[in-house]
Amino acid sequence: MSKETNRRDFIGYSFAAVAAVGGAASLVGMKRAWDPLPSVLSGGFTTIDLTPIKAGTPETFEWRGKPIFVLKKSADMEDSERDLKVGTDRYTVAIGLCTHLGCIPAWKKDKWKCACHGGQFSPSGKQIFGPPPRPFDLPPFTVEGNTIVLGNAGPEFKKIAAYLATQV
Ligand code: FES
Repeated sequence: MSKETNRRDFIGYSFAAVAAVGGAASLVGMKRAWDPLPSVLSGGFTTIDLTPIKAGTPETFEWRGKPIFVLKKSADMEDSERDLKVGTDRYTVAIGLCTHLGCIPAWKKDKWKCACHGGQFSPSGKQIFGPPPRPFDLPPFTVEGNTIVLGNAGPEFKKIAAYLATQV
C-alpha cells in the first residue's frame, strides 16, 4: 500500500467519523425537538384531592391549560346521571368553558353563569338558559380512592361520557 493510499484512507475514515458524530448529534437534536417539553409532560396529569372540597361551592383546578370545575353537590342539589359518586358523595366534574363560545362561566349562588352572552348551567353542568348548545364537556379522569386523576379515561369517566353522548 502506498503512502498516498494510506493518506486517502485516513481522510476517508476521518470524514466518516465526523459524519457519524454529526449524524448522531442531529438525531439527538431531532429527538429533543420532537419530545414533549418537561412542562407538557408534567402538565399531562392533574391529581385532585376531593377531601377538602366543601359541598355546595365548586372549586376550579387547572388541567392542560383549561379550567376544571369540581362541585361537591349539597343534599338539596338535583341527582343526575352525570354525578360522579365517590363513597356517599356526588360530584360534578366539568371542563369550565362555556360550550357556546368558550368563556369561563362563574358560579353564582346555585348555578354557573356565563358573562359573555348570558348562558347558564345547572349544578349538574347542564345548559339551562341562553345560547350554550350542550352541557359542560367532561375531562378524562380516573378515580383513585378519594382523588381523581385528570388525563386518563377510567371506567367512571366512560360511564358519564356515554350518558353525555345521549344529551347532545
Ligand atoms: S360564550 Fe357563554 S354564552 Fe356565549
